[in-house]
Amino acid sequence: MSETSTASTTPASAGGTGLRPRILSGMQPTDGSLHLGNYIGALRQWVQLQDNFDALYFVADLHSLTVNPDPALIRERTRRTAAQYLAAGVDPAQSILFVQSHVPAHAELGWLLQCQTGFGEASRMTQFKDKSAKAGNDGATVGLFAYPMLMAADILVYDSALVPVGEDQRQHLELTRNIAERLNSRFGDGTAVVPDAHIVKAGAKIQDLQDPAKKMSKSSSGGKGVVWLLEDPKKAAKAIKSAVTDADEDYGVRYDPEAKPGISNLLTIFSAVTGRDVDSIAAEYDGRGYGYLKVDLADAVVEWLAPFQQRAHTFLDDPARLDAVLTDGAQRAAALAEPVLQRIYDRFGLLSPATRLHAVSAAVAATATTATNASPAGRG
Ligand code: TRP
Repeated sequence: MSETSTASTTPASAGGTGLRPRILSGMQPTDGSLHLGNYIGALRQWVQLQDNFDALYFVADLHSLTVNPDPALIRERTRRTAAQYLAAGVDPAQSILFVQSHVPAHAELGWLLQCQTGFGEASRMTQFKDKSAKAGNDGATVGLFAYPMLMAADILVYDSALVPVGEDQRQHLELTRNIAERLNSRFGDGTAVVPDAHIVKAGAKIQDLQDPAKKMSKSSSGGKGVVWLLEDPKKAAKAIKSAVTDADEDYGVRYDPEAKPGISNLLTIFSAVTGRDVDSIAAEYDGRGYGYLKVDLADAVVEWLAPFQQRAHTFLDDPARLDAVLTDGAQRAAALAEPVLQRIYDRFGLLSPATRLHAVSAAVAATATTATNASPAGRG
């Protein structure tokens, strides 16, 4: 290890400031709205986790470039995604909320990690195999292939201890852990913090309303089984009322995801939007038939959506305010990421991290001044 480096040379043991473990997660801005599955399966947990962890939550805009989206769409969707984090209760006074591309250290560390990942190892990522098979050899970008190493960089660049992700990201997290361990064995202990996955519990997984065997997504059943958070609540009510329920004869209402995936899914949603527990809801509707449950759930979802949308719109209708929150978050995130990136650069043997750090901090300071002048919400 270099003794002349000015960068912090070892990570905090718990992967954080030493006070509370650091947690990090993100979502891609791939649609005009997040859906109820994103809220119940992820956002809601993020909000709870920010009480006990130093949390970083970001909009993974660089990740969404892997499929080459329209520039105007991505700008809009990035803001909408951030506004929904805020509406769900991500609190910028407690957590760091930012946009991935605003913190250059992600992309920079991404390159280093690509150089530490085997071609075969990356080729085994099932998400890459699925997506590239669909897109074909020329349709699939190299970015799609490199995506898991960028995700690893997102995580490692903050010495993150814990990463809340859905089941579909488990393999990418496993890769991240392997890469972190490899860095530690090649470049010395303390090069990277090996993160743990925080896989969302079964009761938080939301299935597609039209196809309860699949998770809620716009690709299954043509989007008819999705409740979009920013869409007209009437459409949400309609989607709930036309949810596919289980073809059994007892019409029993009970939480049993194996035998009654459709009803169990509705009960999970009901519980999430009302805060009531699943069994008491089931007891109330058992023996009355599915129709009552659906009608009341549709009302409950509409009632929950209204204030959510209102909160989101306070930010969407005032982009300057939203951008000020994001600028502030990016500055705070960059301040955490830069020393980690310096440490890893130094371990790799890249020359003169001190000079680089100086250049970056001057640039960050200049940005901070501009942002503070531009907006009263900037914290400089
Ligand atoms: N790959 C994640 C998804 O598509 C999003 C993501 C990107 C992420 N970087 C991350 C999640 C880092 C957790 C940690 O859902």
